[in-house]
Amino acid sequence: MTHSINLLDPEFLANPYPHYAELRRRSPVCQVEPNGIWAVTRYEDVLYVLKNHSLFSSGGFKAAWQPPWVGYNPIANSMIATDPPQHTRLRGLVFRAFGPDAIARMEPRVRATAEKLADGLVEGADFVQKMALPLPASAISNILGLDEELLPYFKQWSDDLISVTPTPPSPEVAERVRGTVAKVTGYVREVIEARRRTPTDDTVSELLRAEVEGQRLSDAEITDFLILLLIAGLESTTNLLGNSLVFLAAHPEMMERLQAEPSLIPPFIEEMLRYESPGQGIPRLTSAETTLAGVTLPAGALVFPMLGSANRDERKFPDPDRFDLKRNTQGVLAFGQGAHFCVGAMLARMESRLVLETLLARFQRVERVSDDLQYQCALTTRGPIALPLRYIPLRSRV
Ligand code: HEM
Repeated sequence: MTHSINLLDPEFLANPYPHYAELRRRSPVCQVEPNGIWAVTRYEDVLYVLKNHSLFSSGGFKAAWQPPWVGYNPIANSMIATDPPQHTRLRGLVFRAFGPDAIARMEPRVRATAEKLADGLVEGADFVQKMALPLPASAISNILGLDEELLPYFKQWSDDLISVTPTPPSPEVAERVRGTVAKVTGYVREVIEARRRTPTDDTVSELLRAEVEGQRLSDAEITDFLILLLIAGLESTTNLLGNSLVFLAAHPEMMERLQAEPSLIPPFIEEMLRYESPGQGIPRLTSAETTLAGVTLPAGALVFPMLGSANRDERKFPDPDRFDLKRNTQGVLAFGQGAHFCVGAMLARMESRLVLETLLARFQRVERVSDDLQYQCALTTRGPIALPLRYIPLRSRV
């Protein structure tokens, strides 16, 4: 059954949740726009798809992010787009850079960055540009050993590489996306060359040294891998922070509660990941004809398990549209599940906690400057494009 919902419609993007609820009720597996992709909206079915990589291949990323008009898209060819055993081989390489020890070592630096960026949060400043974006950008460029001067370009690169739609919105956008691929690839190759000449202790040098099963990674593999880390490390964290501040601006009482009890910040982040999933849907490609929730999917179907809907499924999370700090968030799918479970989950949680701690120590509340709020136009991500706010300092509390 094809449903008239378009996942890229501005009205859908503004608030997808009532639409998801209707899909879960009436057509939990069905074709939607754009391009008749298959949306899977119930928790149980989403989990099944994520865990069953032999039927639901991560080659879906290639189908979604590398339509013919793009040409080559590095992240559509990276680890996230592969299945075991090729995937397992690459995944083992990143654990050290994102494990608990590495994250703990990074904390003082990330905290200092959050403090520095918070100085720029003056009346009307855009929270996305001033904090939500540069903080994860700085963390990931540090991990990868990239040049901080390039931070301002990361967002455009990231938007261009992952906001790919089946047909380009305009010839200008198509031109820009192809240009971005060439630019990012060229830059990352230069970094690889520089580390080959002069190795350091950063992740790029480590990847160059790494041998997996007796084989070195090729330059193309390293390039795609680094671009994946750069973009995965940026976009979702920016969105989690943006979504959190949209919520706090609408709920000053929550901000007060977190101020009174900072130990509630981690549960706040977990519930925010459920309530406004930064990654709404992830692509998979069926490797054979199969049946899901009684619906037959042909081989080669582009399927989107919708994390944003699964996390609001009333069958799993009672009263799902209520933000509940006391909720049991076990089983939330915001970081995925199974073989591709997010490598950066620990980093993202640490970054978000430090940003919230910094803000709560300075500001009594935040207020929206305008009611106008535009969300990204993407199948995979959800977050505000811009978020100008008024930041009311703590000392003005009466
Ligand atoms: C709130 C922030 C984040 C969210 C919600 C998020 C979400 C996700 C999800 C849902 C997946 C699974 C994709 C799939 O199953 O196909 C994933 C994978 C991944 N994430 Fe994250 N992510 C976040 C932050 C980060 C950060 C900070 C990094 C740091 C580099 C990162 C790196 C990755 C990588 C490399 C993968 C691919 C793992 C694989 O293919 O095995 N993510 N993420």
